[in-house]
Amino acid sequence: MSLTVGIAAITGKFARELTSFLLKNPAITIKGYCRDPSKVPESFFSKVSIVKGDAFDTSAIRSFVSGCDVVVCCYLGDAKLMVNGQTTLIDACAAEGVPRYVASDWSIDYTKLELGQLFPKDPMIRVKAYLDAQDKVKGVHVLVGMFMDMAFSQAFQVYDPASSTLKYWGTGDEIWEATTYRNAAEFTAAVVADKDAVGVKKLVGGRATFKEISGAFERAYGEKPKLERQGSADDLFKRMHELRQSNPQNIFSYLFLFFQYYMINGQTLLGPNLDNHKYPQVKPVSWEDYLKSTPKDQLPGAPGRAGQNV
Ligand SMILES: NC(=O)c1ccc[n+]([C@@H]2O[C@H](COP(=O)([O-])OP(=O)(O)OC[C@H]3O[C@@H](n4cnc5c(N)ncnc54)[C@H](OP(=O)(O)O)[C@@H]3O)[C@@H](O)[C@H]2O)c1
Repeated sequence: MSLTVGIAAITGKFARELTSFLLKNPAITIKGYCRDPSKVPESFFSKVSIVKGDAFDTSAIRSFVSGCDVVVCCYLGDAKLMVNGQTTLIDACAAEGVPRYVASDWSIDYTKLELGQLFPKDPMIRVKAYLDAQDKVKGVHVLVGMFMDMAFSQAFQVYDPASSTLKYWGTGDEIWEATTYRNAAEFTAAVVADKDAVGVKKLVGGRATFKEISGAFERAYGEKPKLERQGSADDLFKRMHELRQSNPQNIFSYLFLFFQYYMINGQTLLGPNLDNHKYPQVKPVSWEDYLKSTPKDQLPGAPGRAGQNV
């Protein structure tokens, strides 16, 4: 059963991982879309046909989606790109008869959020509503929790490698759901190949409390991390809003605190009932699997390595 898959933003980290999995399937033909073909990995040359264009070039986008059985959007950027860039792709899919569109999601369960709560997810809420109203194109939403590779990065402000400290808000008994970039790509490749897969798919590598993650860290590296409680969930809520109000431009000072808040308050949890069992060929990578397979000194820079070894 042959399948033509279009990947928008094929130069991105997640898209590279996804493409490398899809290329293992001889029944799949891949078309890629990007604004700078010189950034396409060499290993994809000759195996992927590339259409060049920007996110709002409607004629280039029509030619990219033409002939696809499914289009996967891997954009990551500002709200204009995430909303209008995606609706431009969806409109092109409707016009060209592409029956399935995989939205640029790979996130915690934003479907349970209200607009304005976790502001970076507002575009996804809008795009899902746009897809829900389509009759020709069916939306697919792969929800994976956070990318596990992010959890110990400098940006996420949880792990201090110098003092081997794990810092948390709340009680430490709240569940953190996460999936590595690579594992999320493997799950997504399985969803893409499954022609019947539409709607929300909850596919998660690891679910564990912060204290359990600390235990996994100790088993992986033979060293007990220091645990530092930074305050309650309410303290976190106050802190993230104070930081945002005092300097809204300094987005990275508060962005990941917003994510942590809506994770630990339980609102965006995907489990315990997941769709993993529908794709038994994909082995979920747990927190402990990830830590055991990642040298400790590589944890802070892990997000930057996603998609680099394809
Ligand atoms: N759950 C999580 O923790 C988590 C974390 C990170 C990302 N994600 C999700 O994963 C998906 C992909 O993220 P990623 O980390 O792979 O992102 P990424 O590596 O930054 O790639 C972003 C892609 O978007 C393209 N792009 C950016 N601005 C554009 C514009 N104005 N016009 C056209 N293309 C543009 C980039 O093209 P160029 O190469 O030309 O710049 C690149 O191909 C997104 O859905 C994101 O929300 C989830």
